[in-house]
Amino acid sequence: MDDFPTIRAEALAAIEAAGDARALDAVRVAALGKSGRVTGLMKTLGGLPAEERKAFGARVNALKDEVSAALDVRKGLLDGAALTARLEAERVDVSLPVRPERSGLLHPIGQTIDELCAVFGDMGFTWAEGPDIEDDWHNFTALNIPPDHPARQMQDTFYLPPRADGTPTVLRTHTSPVQARTMLDPEVKKMLADGGALRIIVPGRTFRVDSDATHAPMFHQVEGLVIERAIHMGHLKGCLADFCRAYFEVDSVPLKFRPSYFPFTEPSAEVDIGCSWKGGELRIGAGDSWLEILGSGMVHPNVLRNCGIDPDIYQGFAFGMGIERIAMLKYGIPDLRTFYDSDLRWLRHYGFSALESPSLTGGLSR
Ligand code: DAH
Repeated sequence: MDDFPTIRAEALAAIEAAGDARALDAVRVAALGKSGRVTGLMKTLGGLPAEERKAFGARVNALKDEVSAALDVRKGLLDGAALTARLEAERVDVSLPVRPERSGLLHPIGQTIDELCAVFGDMGFTWAEGPDIEDDWHNFTALNIPPDHPARQMQDTFYLPPRADGTPTVLRTHTSPVQARTMLDPEVKKMLADGGALRIIVPGRTFRVDSDATHAPMFHQVEGLVIERAIHMGHLKGCLADFCRAYFEVDSVPLKFRPSYFPFTEPSAEVDIGCSWKGGELRIGAGDSWLEILGSGMVHPNVLRNCGIDPDIYQGFAFGMGIERIAMLKYGIPDLRTFYDSDLRWLRHYGFSALESPSLTGGLSR
């Protein structure tokens, strides 16, 4: 009996009917597996007369090849269909608006901090932080403002109840205590001893008993601190001049370094920038008026000593400015109190796109 046509027809029909890879594999096993029908034919070879074996073997092999080829073709089709179905199911409409145009805006404070990070980050500064509730030592004593020193009266402090161990605490009146916290860090000391330089900016909240159009009980400052072996006032000037040009996005800014007094710096200078008020509108970088924007100076040797840094080896410069103040100047915001009114109309007017982060190459503000 010649089983070939039946086995062939049934195998090919089963292959055609297989709807997925698993069904197809079952067909393969049923035909070509160890106890498959095609394999079964081969097993009958031994029982045949010698002169028929060669031709029979060739027919079985031809059938095996044909079934294998049909399996491959079907497998290719099924795989292709599965992939198409998957792509269809996971289809993404790239034309859909995935960036809702203005779903939210950045507050000018956040924007200004991002801009400060872009400018100072480019000069090699990193970000440092400290607590809002500070102890009296970090806020004052470490910074060369001893207890009962008249300089303590320069800042109208919110005093808090002392800690359980008696430590007096305050809402920090400036970001300067983070200078001390950073210099006291053993890792920083090691880095300096290894020849490195400390360059930090400290953006953060600060608190004083004060409230009018240009003062609020809670406001923001950014502190800057650089400690190195051979740093001097020239570096401070260069750094601040670069900062002013970059931040105010003007090619040149006239700067005035006015001698001043801060307990934690010696010498100390307040920095004014040149501006004009033509037509009632403030323009930074030109004109005959001056606006104070920050305090700065060379870190006082007592401060270095208080923080365990040898002033005979290391020098430093520092600066501090009000974030609201430089935002008001740059963006023409007349009243500081409005920053915290949470008035939606104000926020929509002065807010910034959350999708464009400030960068020196792409532009700080757009
Ligand atoms: N901490 C000062 C203040 O709040 C600002 C300041 C002045 C910071 C001079 C400095 C500095 O680091 O060098 O009034």
